[in-house]
Amino acid sequence: MPSSAVAVSSVLDRALVLEMVRVTEKAAIACRAQIGRGDEHAADAAAVEAMRDALNELDFDGTIVIGEGERDEAPMLFIGEKVGRGRDEGGRGPKIDIALDPLEGTTITAKAGPNALAVLAIAEAGGLLNAPDVYMDKLAIGPGYADDVVDLSRSVTDNVTALAAAKGVAPAAITACVLDRPRHEALIRELRGIGCGIVLIGDGDVAGVIATTNPDTGIDIYLGSGGAPEGVLAAAALRCVGGQFQGRLVFRNDDERGRARKWGIADLDQIYKLDDLAKGDVIFAATGVTDGSLLAGVKTRRDGTVTTESVVMRASSGTVRWVRGEHRGPL
Ligand code: FBP
Repeated sequence: MPSSAVAVSSVLDRALVLEMVRVTEKAAIACRAQIGRGDEHAADAAAVEAMRDALNELDFDGTIVIGEGERDEAPMLFIGEKVGRGRDEGGRGPKIDIALDPLEGTTITAKAGPNALAVLAIAEAGGLLNAPDVYMDKLAIGPGYADDVVDLSRSVTDNVTALAAAKGVAPAAITACVLDRPRHEALIRELRGIGCGIVLIGDGDVAGVIATTNPDTGIDIYLGSGGAPEGVLAAAALRCVGGQFQGRLVFRNDDERGRARKWGIADLDQIYKLDDLAKGDVIFAATGVTDGSLLAGVKTRRDGTVTTESVVMRASSGTVRWVRGEHRGPL
């Protein structure tokens, strides 16, 4: 068991591990016809519907805690929606909280860019932060470092310098991953000022954060702000594979602050660590929609077989499974 794994008794039946892969596979398969077709909405709608149908076949009493939006803005998989067979059988089966993004990277998918994923995480009821749909400042590094090596409250230069020292390299040898956004201009300037390499991504920071845990990507640190819901999903993955993640919600106006309070967030400046975002046993699953640093995208062979690549991880065991699917039956 890796040091990141937690010894907990869990209501998450181990059979759910592979069931979660089926769910993300179905979402990825459903939106494959939309890859590169320029229609973000159609791609997202196909993934959402397929993911919801797949969840509703499972024997649990699930509640969406991170989904497509609030009830009045999302027709399906809205926050608070009940899913699973238990939903209309008086709450039969284990009570499970679900964070999901049926299509993480809608623009990427529409443009056939890299790193779009169908992704979800499940935990026991109460195990996932009910994050409002606001931005989150994120800082992530891979496993194997002391707990205090980086800290979101410190400057970017201090964090990169400390990480470089822990690795025994110069700060200029560090590669950061950052979302390519005008709001990150100062961050990018600071990183360039200390000579860092920067992998600028167009979208898809769940894959960007997870990339810090895989030495093959060459990415040492993830920095910058992205969606808070995506932060919870990425944190769920790091709970399973190890690594450090810190996030702080970013509010642009009083409406966003009000929404956070509505979700029960009292300290608006809190720096969330892994256990604050995803605690207890957690299962994280993702299937590639387009090719990326984590997974190959969904493809259709000439004979009609659809191929998928997925990863599924569990916090309590630290097990990571890579699953290649060949789908020949009716889809
Ligand atoms: P969508 O799938 O909702 O399009 O999200 C893509 C994404 O790049 C996320 O990975 C990231 O957290 C967020 O958008 C960043 O938001 P913004 O595009 O507003 O900078």
